[in-house]
Amino acid sequence: MAILPILHYPDARLKTVAKPVTRVDAGIRALVTDMAETMYAAPGIGLAATQVDVHQQVVVIDLSETHDQLLILINPRILARDGLSVQEEGCLSVPGIYEKVERAATVRAEYLDLEGKAQSLEAEGLLAVCIQHEIDHLQGKVFVERLSRLKQMRIRDKIAKKANDKDQA
Ligand code: NI
Repeated sequence: MAILPILHYPDARLKTVAKPVTRVDAGIRALVTDMAETMYAAPGIGLAATQVDVHQQVVVIDLSETHDQLLILINPRILARDGLSVQEEGCLSVPGIYEKVERAATVRAEYLDLEGKAQSLEAEGLLAVCIQHEIDHLQGKVFVERLSRLKQMRIRDKIAKKANDKDQA
């Protein structure tokens, strides 16, 4: 097991579109283990492989406080979305930034589990938001890119300033 380094926005590698997993093998299972450890250590509630610079369609999510409800989504696809939800989001790749994002309120998704078996689920609330946020990562999109251009500029300025302050400290 290993904690993997997380890419930070606006790293260009976060724009990479992930490829579907062709076989759920030992390599994918090891990746999932490392991603879960990385997410729990951060701590965060979701992590896409893109964020650890692995460009395969793998997502881990755990909304529990006890860290024992790990949901693993391999090759996730949203089949249906309904309603509108506006919730504040954050991201391990954009530390310290929280903004309201418009998403579907409910989603139906299909994916492969760790045994490579096809599964589906319906989600609402935070889980629905989280699934949409993580699938965005696999498509090379960070949540701030769903905000207005002005907000994106402000966020980039804030991140640049923070990096600058750190260099001078
Ligand atoms: Ni994220």
